[in-house]
Amino acid sequence: MSDIAIRPGRSEELSDIAALNDHAFGGPEEGRITRALWNNGDTLLSLVAVKDNKLVGHIEMFRIRVDGADCAAGLGPMSIHPDYQKTGIGSALVRRALAAMHAAQRLPVFVLGHPDYYPRFGFSADAAEAFSAPWSGPAFMAWGADEASVSEGQLTYPRAFAGDPPPNAA
Ligand SMILES: CC(C)(COP(=O)(O)OP(=O)(O)OC[C@H]1O[C@@H](n2cnc3c(N)ncnc32)[C@H](O)[C@@H]1OP(=O)(O)O)[C@@H](O)C(=O)NCCC(=O)NCCS
Repeated sequence: MSDIAIRPGRSEELSDIAALNDHAFGGPEEGRITRALWNNGDTLLSLVAVKDNKLVGHIEMFRIRVDGADCAAGLGPMSIHPDYQKTGIGSALVRRALAAMHAAQRLPVFVLGHPDYYPRFGFSADAAEAFSAPWSGPAFMAWGADEASVSEGQLTYPRAFAGDPPPNAA
């Protein structure tokens, strides 16, 4: 991790970021979603991990509306290059992105992701139960909801996800 830099993703890197997601997930869906989030102006934060000028990791945070108000965030897509997985890069990206969402009006963050991965960062399925979304169950988790301005409500995801579950679904 010591020689990995984490910084905001740049617009000229969008193709490389999309390709990294497609490579890590093994299909074109997460790259498409990332492009749509950027192109539709729905991204809140995009971070990349870089080693020796090579993109090795990416995390996206996007806006979610709660009962019509812009007051929450979603996590994903998130990808680490297969050669660099399980070396701590994903954890570093998640922690950096969550800190930014906390600093930004203490936004609660939602994820549909691996139930064995996200709880280590404080995500919990119980915390998501008061929110209605097109998905539910142990993979649908919330972070920071106890300190947020909203404690319940209907979530509206960006149109990048229309017809599809959000990324990171287990
Ligand atoms: C899942 C992913 C983002 C994790 O990032 P990472 O940098 O490899 O993970 P870290 O090094 O920070 O953390 C490693 C830990 O995560 C666990 N982990 C990795 N992938 C996991 C998965 N799919 N499900 C559950 N746990 C997972 C490892 O077992 C390890 O656990 P340990 O600390 O108890 O040994 C990365 O493996 C990846 O890009 N996978 C393919 C794309 C994907 O599934 N993205 C969605 C993420 S939900």
